[in-house]
Amino acid sequence: MLKTVKFITANFDKYDPHFIDQYEEIGGFNALKRAVKMDGEEIASEIALCGVKGRGGAAYDMGRKWSQAKAVDSPKKVVICNADEGEPCTFKDRSIITKDPFRLIEGLIIAGYAINAQNGYIYMREEYTHLRPLLLNAIEQAKQKGYLGKNILGIKGFNYDIHLYSGAGAYVCGEGTALIESIEGKAGRPRMKPPFIKQSGLYKLPTLVNNVESLTIVPAILMDKEKKYLKYGTEGSIGTKLISVGGNVKKPGVYEIPFGITLRDIIYGLAGGIVEDRKISLIQLGGASGKITSSDFLDTKYTYDDLKTANLTVGSGAVLVIDERTSVIDFLRYTQNFFSHESCGQCTPCREGNRHIRMLLERVKRKQHTYKDLDSLTKFADIMCSASLCGLGETAQNALICAMKLFPKEFEVIEGRTF
Ligand SMILES: Cc1cc2nc3c(=O)[nH]c(=O)nc-3n(C[C@H](O)[C@H](O)[C@H](O)COP(=O)(O)O)c2cc1C
Ligand code: SF4
Repeated sequence: MLKTVKFITANFDKYDPHFIDQYEEIGGFNALKRAVKMDGEEIASEIALCGVKGRGGAAYDMGRKWSQAKAVDSPKKVVICNADEGEPCTFKDRSIITKDPFRLIEGLIIAGYAINAQNGYIYMREEYTHLRPLLLNAIEQAKQKGYLGKNILGIKGFNYDIHLYSGAGAYVCGEGTALIESIEGKAGRPRMKPPFIKQSGLYKLPTLVNNVESLTIVPAILMDKEKKYLKYGTEGSIGTKLISVGGNVKKPGVYEIPFGITLRDIIYGLAGGIVEDRKISLIQLGGASGKITSSDFLDTKYTYDDLKTANLTVGSGAVLVIDERTSVIDFLRYTQNFFSHESCGQCTPCREGNRHIRMLLERVKRKQHTYKDLDSLTKFADIMCSASLCGLGETAQNALICAMKLFPKEFEVIEGRTF
């Protein structure tokens, strides 16, 4: 039987997340103790050696990101932990915060040490308000133990604090610059780039933004003496990944998998197959902004390269399975409603594009659309991808573009129809 692995999730259910003593008993903060004997560049190299790519969606090389953040010459810097997790069907970060908050805190402190930052911020989505007391308690206990504050672990000048912020429920605030605006108390709208946040981010300070899972993996890698992580996965996609599987599967949930198992392994193995053994209508990877595919691609391996070949991406780590009761067009309509609602309205391609595509999809739903409407759908989607200000507008039409190629029948025009 296919099993999940335990590397990032190794501490889950091993200690009571309310007590730092219990975390220390299972080796907690040993990674930080090791890290402070290293140079930031060395830490970045260890992460790079493991080929870790950011787990928030963009899959940016994490070792390189830390190395670039360290190289910025500034007496003050900031690290932000992105716990916004607003991408639909994505709930892996919640499991980390709930079950291993201290490892997340430890990863965030190591990040601060590695790039010479003085402050770390956790930006958590409004819907996770119930997790605030747990995180605040973890921060407070870390302070009392001397892992936060001044001269941490007796190292002169290593001063670092962590602050917890809650969003107000906007999906776009997961985008790095919108998140920064939100912490600064402004409306959560993405900034024009450049300047890039690595040079000028929160309060105009050089800023490193990393996802919850990205930060949590760091202590595990630094304590991995036997190099177990390198043995998981494939040559191009080393290690393990947390995925959240949802939709019409029998066992939705968060699973830690080695890279390289197939979508079939995930959906029919780990998640137990489709409810009432129905057929699959479509699969979407990486959240609502992710690409979609059909059951013909179930044997695709879950690696960065194999997914790319199949025109898919890892994205946020979500695996959404929609069964035959929901048509492709209905799925696209729901997705489109989400993006029309979540567009911040700042730039025209996204604000107007989402609105127009939503109206055109209603026509497709009623089978009242023309060839010209299909051309307009493609044209709007292209403009949005290339001319939007942020990733929301750039990716909102991923599912639509895939669907038009993969499921042409769904878009068939009924010729000669009069209305
Ligand atoms: C609209 C939008 C929403 C995003 N939401 C999240 C999110 O909820 N969590 C997250 O970690 N990254 C999110 N991202 C990606 C972040 O901008 C950023 O790339 C990421 O936090 C960097 O961390 P990483 O390198 O560890 O992946 C979002 C991006 C966009 C464009
Ligand atoms: S692409 Fe959309 S969400 Fe992003 S800035 Fe433009 S309007 Fe706002």
